[in-house]
Amino acid sequence: MSSPHNSANIGDIAERVLLPGDPVRAKFIAKNFLDDVKQYTEIRNVYGFTGKYKGVPVSIQATGMGIPSFSIYVHELIHVYGAKKLIRVGTCGGMHKDLNLRDVLIAQGASTDSSIVEKTFGGAINFSLLANFDLLCKAVANAKNLNIPVKVGNVICTDRFYNDYGDKDGVYSSNGMTLDEKMIQHGILAVEMESAALYLLAAAAQVEALAIFTVSDHIVKKEYSAAEEREKDFNDMVKIALETVIQS
Ligand code: HPA
Repeated sequence: MSSPHNSANIGDIAERVLLPGDPVRAKFIAKNFLDDVKQYTEIRNVYGFTGKYKGVPVSIQATGMGIPSFSIYVHELIHVYGAKKLIRVGTCGGMHKDLNLRDVLIAQGASTDSSIVEKTFGGAINFSLLANFDLLCKAVANAKNLNIPVKVGNVICTDRFYNDYGDKDGVYSSNGMTLDEKMIQHGILAVEMESAALYLLAAAAQVEALAIFTVSDHIVKKEYSAAEEREKDFNDMVKIALETVIQS
């Protein structure tokens, strides 16, 4: 048996899963970090692989970009294939001045402009989207052991990559402040497009989830890293994620 968007059979996917958006990155991680790798899906070219990291079965499932695509793959991973520990490994756009290109960031919380929270709770509460505390602590400790500096905090998970949140005359700007400036004032560190869905789906299913990012661009400083430059920093993030996902 498989699922609508994944041709894996039950049992092909490990309980521990890393979630890059990009299928090419999924292949890169499987090839460079895992042993005994088997590809279990290529539906829509959104690849998934299972292998072993330090002897422990781990899967790498690409998700595509944004909450709708991401939610399809993660829902099926949890509810069809039994995934229990899920760590997103992706890129984000830095917002806070203390963040620089290539920094590694762990999302302790995910704020969002998406309506997924509202739709889940009928608008009655603003549910806080949080990382699993155990995975978060382990990731911070593993980063320290690996000598990789990390920042930890709140991110904004947006539905649109292109929006007017940085515009003075944007719909949400007020009292001379853009929405981006207001978010930064409140400690939002970076922008990305999937973590809110991860934390909401994980909370609903009571599984463990964490989102780790490499800063690929800075939306305030207007800096962008070239794709080739990102490899080492991407590998740092993957090492932290793999060491964390295999711990019991
Ligand atoms: N915006 C949204 N998502 C992102 C960005 C960004 O600037 N960079 C990487 N993911």
